[in-house]
Amino acid sequence: MSANTITITDNRTGKQYEIPVENGTIKAVDLRQIKTAADDFGLMTYDPAFMNTASCKSRITFIDGDKGILEYRGYPIDQLAEKSTYLEVAYLLLNGELPTEPQLKDWTWNITHHTFINENIKKVMDGFHYNAHPMGMFLSTLGALSTFYPDAKQIFDTDCRQKQIYRLIAKVPTIAAFAFRHGIGMQYAYPDNGLSYEGNFLNMMFKTTELQYQPNPVLERALNVLFILHADHEQNCSTNAMRSIGSAQTDPFSSMAGAAAALYGPLHGGANEMVLRMLKEIGSIDKVPAYIKRVKAGEFRLMGFGHRVYKNYDPRARIIKQIADEVFEVTGKDPLLDLALELERIALEDEYFVKRKLYPNVDFYSGIIYRAMRFPVDMFPVLFAIPRTSGWLAQWVEMLEDADQKIARPRQIYLGQRTREYLTLDERPAENKSAAGAWTFTQSQE
Ligand code: CMC
Repeated sequence: MSANTITITDNRTGKQYEIPVENGTIKAVDLRQIKTAADDFGLMTYDPAFMNTASCKSRITFIDGDKGILEYRGYPIDQLAEKSTYLEVAYLLLNGELPTEPQLKDWTWNITHHTFINENIKKVMDGFHYNAHPMGMFLSTLGALSTFYPDAKQIFDTDCRQKQIYRLIAKVPTIAAFAFRHGIGMQYAYPDNGLSYEGNFLNMMFKTTELQYQPNPVLERALNVLFILHADHEQNCSTNAMRSIGSAQTDPFSSMAGAAAALYGPLHGGANEMVLRMLKEIGSIDKVPAYIKRVKAGEFRLMGFGHRVYKNYDPRARIIKQIADEVFEVTGKDPLLDLALELERIALEDEYFVKRKLYPNVDFYSGIIYRAMRFPVDMFPVLFAIPRTSGWLAQWVEMLEDADQKIARPRQIYLGQRTREYLTLDERPAENKSAAGAWTFTQSQE
């Protein structure tokens, strides 16, 4: 018997099975041989929300949730945040290594020269209502882009794929900024290819009458760090959506529209927006204890706290807290910071949070910095989506090149009715208690 196996005894039949263990994992399909009879489908695992299932092998991002470690391609996140740029990190995520000087030049040139969007895409964006949420505009526009680039369907042509990668990373800041300006009724500011990736984004967001917008270097650097911190986070909800949609061989624009939709949710990338709304609702430091009491009573969650993987301080939150001071020196301090610090202090001392290992996550402080930089609250999820684009694309490429991957198609445990005789309208019981019956009744009353 090999050492790298486990032996399972099926108490239903008394039979024993030797199952290989690789990388601390057993293959779920290896359980299928465990049957009670020849026509039995075989044993499956039940794992809603993927609590204990690895959906892929990956070499991109490493997280040790207990120790609070995050690494991209083996580089610790704090080193990248301190020394690198977002575009370099995007290259690293996609290519596995930091770029050499010529590689970085080439990469930067290609990203910079795909920043413009087709004028008709502008018209698509014009069609949104004046108060459309920018994240709704962002993800819809990504879907619309797929119709402008039908070549993107050639996902196994590596040159073609590379072109879509340039396009997507280059165009997301443009779409994001146009969504913002649509909301405030200001004419769109076109990309300035003389600026850095982050500087150009600030230009497209905030340029008014100046001939050339000059980004504040401290804010440009802070945005760069925030982009690095948000670039990838292994198999989170939106990345899983990207891989899952992409597994149907869907083009990357459509796949990314789906990933962005997943990110929009308040439990994921929408949490930074909810944190700001929560801090505003609390209003002042003296109201923090009463708010925490309501969280503990289960009325609502403390937004920006807790994480499926981190059971320690989120390393990204620690770095964001550090750069907040630099930003506030330029923008002035946001009083919400003191409120957030007090909320964190009380929560971290409270048994409810200690017992459940609930610590501040990346979204707890990012919103306060974004607000100080004059980004409106509803832009926060969009600010998350811009840098996550490189992570989504890196994970998508890895999925396409992984021989183990096929179309994502989970199994289910079916607990519903089986093979029944169809009932005509006359035959159906007068009082149908099912939800579908209730719906039909309501419709007929309207
Ligand atoms: N406030 C209060 N209680 C919480 C919170 C919270 N923020 N998060 C988890 N809990 C409690 C939860 O009620 C449960 O308690 P009990 O065992 O008594 O039922 C326990 O902690 C475990 O929670 P869970 O829901 O099983 O944990 P999960 O891994 O399924 O959820 C999470 C992870 C991030 C969705 C959750 O912590 C949460 O809703 N946090 C608030 C939203 C948020 O900040 N999201 C951003 C996540 S980081 C960035 C990103 O992914 O985009």
